[in-house]
Amino acid sequence: MSIEGRVALVTGAGQGIGRAIALRLAKDGATAVIADLNEETAASVVAEIENDGGKAFAVKIDVADEDSVNQAVGNIIERAGPVSILVNNAGIFRDTPAMEVSMKEWHFNLAVMLTGPLLCARAVGPGMIEQRWGRIINMASLMSFVAYGRDVGYCTTKTGLLGLTRSLAAELAGHNILVNAICPGNIMTSMLEETGRLVELRDGMEPGQFIRDRANDIPLGRLGQPEDIAKMVSYLCSEDADYVTGQSLHVNGGLYNT
Ligand SMILES: NC(=O)c1ccc[n+]([C@@H]2O[C@H](COP(=O)([O-])OP(=O)(O)OC[C@H]3O[C@@H](n4cnc5c(N)ncnc54)[C@H](O)[C@@H]3O)[C@@H](O)[C@H]2O)c1
Repeated sequence: MSIEGRVALVTGAGQGIGRAIALRLAKDGATAVIADLNEETAASVVAEIENDGGKAFAVKIDVADEDSVNQAVGNIIERAGPVSILVNNAGIFRDTPAMEVSMKEWHFNLAVMLTGPLLCARAVGPGMIEQRWGRIINMASLMSFVAYGRDVGYCTTKTGLLGLTRSLAAELAGHNILVNAICPGNIMTSMLEETGRLVELRDGMEPGQFIRDRANDIPLGRLGQPEDIAKMVSYLCSEDADYVTGQSLHVNGGLYNT
């Protein structure tokens, strides 16, 4: 059975990795729900998918806000039926030095990157249980395994997301709901560009050096593209992955492996 006709909710799908995932799942036959804080970018991704002959619609969501998540999922169910695939992709990268980060900023990082995925899973979970079929994919990171400094908000939440993945996988396995995490390396999106700008300013590097250095470090010789992550999502949603759950899968061009 393919994912033809299934409803796939992708958070943070207005741009970058989330956009590529939504495009791919729509190509695979799902109805892609483009869920983002940014309604303008979400609408443009819907248009792209529809122009390509796929099915999609947008919902506004703030994954950090329980009411917003529940309202968005309620609207999706009303419009298209229960969600079968959830990709917890929305994320932020902020400069968060452990010795300086404000508690407000710390809690904001937790809310978006750790509580958000749990809220989304809880909102779609009952529908998946009813269908006896579900796929939840959490977008973790290379930084679930390594730290570079001034990134306690990002590193901590992305590492915690692996624990959330394992715990959800164990709890939901009996309902035929598979839960996995993808750990992308350096993927060319505006988040990576923004991270580069922050690091270059901090370390007195010349503009563009961060991205060039990252690319040189990668054994496969190139930065990742959002489509590289979308391919892994497509696999995890396919029948071929029906014995894969609770895993953290690296997609990083060989940059890191353990
Ligand atoms: N780009 C990389 O190199 C890389 C590497 C590892 C992991 N990741 C992870 O992949 C995911 C996507 O990253 P990206 O590079 O495409 O980022 P991006 O900044 O290009 O896109 C993030 C999207 O999330 C949305 N978003 C942010 N906060 C939100 C919220 N509270 N509710 C709903 N939507 C929200 C934004 O509007 C945006 O559309 C993130 O979780 C990121 O941490 C990225």
